[in-house]
Amino acid sequence: MKVLVTGASGALGQSLKKVFRNSFCPTHKEMDIANPKSVNKVILSYKPDILIHAAALVGIRECEEDKQKAWAVNVEGTQNIVNTLKKLDNNCYLIYMSTACVFAGEHNKFYTEDDVPSPKNYYSLTKLCGEIATRQYGNTCIIRTNFAPKQQWKYPKAFTDRFGTYLFAEGVAKGISDVCKKKPIGIIHIAGGKRMSMYELALLAGSRNVGRMALKEYNGPPLTVDMSLSTKRWKKYRIK
Ligand SMILES: NC(=O)c1ccc[n+]([C@@H]2O[C@H](COP(=O)([O-])OP(=O)(O)OC[C@H]3O[C@@H](n4cnc5c(N)ncnc54)[C@H](OP(=O)(O)O)[C@@H]3O)[C@@H](O)[C@H]2O)c1
Repeated sequence: MKVLVTGASGALGQSLKKVFRNSFCPTHKEMDIANPKSVNKVILSYKPDILIHAAALVGIRECEEDKQKAWAVNVEGTQNIVNTLKKLDNNCYLIYMSTACVFAGEHNKFYTEDDVPSPKNYYSLTKLCGEIATRQYGNTCIIRTNFAPKQQWKYPKAFTDRFGTYLFAEGVAKGISDVCKKKPIGIIHIAGGKRMSMYELALLAGSRNVGRMALKEYNGPPLTVDMSLSTKRWKKYRIK
């Protein structure tokens, strides 16, 4: 089974590389997803059976400040991958990594795969448009999730009043490997079994000296406040 991973140098990608040990992981330089020629060249020569699309521009502030780039990478980049996969005759299984942030983020809503998205910022909007792009390709699973790498929190403080059913990146990678065994079509939520704040997540990741922060102290693009997911189509995972 030939597996190709985009975004393999990223937080999730590094865990994917450990789970999919023999996967082919072109770097951003080797395959710029925003460049259709580059996408065609790499994918048509490798001919993957499974393509896990984890490359994206994920910074909420960066996407808001450079909407053109965010659209080019997150939407057109995904469309480029879909267009190329349509040219392959092996019906490659596409996994598109989406986010719990496509939802409005109501407290304790625990969004399922059937709920209607309502993005709060440009990043989330582009991720939702990426979902729509993959819908033109039949053999696709859209995975919505929420995670952090299991390492020192990258900011000095973490929100005590922003919530999610988080997993660590390695847990999401394990979930993706489970998905690849069954190859469901449509939307799947890979959710942790426990709703927690980002601050609790940072502590769980081992960041003892991270500070507390409330949303009222934040000054930036609108955020999804409660990213908690539930699932009607998949199992839940325990964060560990
Ligand atoms: N982090 C989260 O909390 C979260 C939650 C839910 C869903 N997701 C989704 O999960 C996926 C992975 O997120 P992540 O946190 O692992 O992101 P990340 O750490 O920021 O990594 C993003 C990856 O995308 C690559 N990339 C960016 N632009 C590219 C381009 N034009 N062509 C090729 N590669 C490009 C980056 O390579 P370079 O660094 O070399 O540019 C990097 O490998 C994304 O689709 C994201 O939307 C993330």
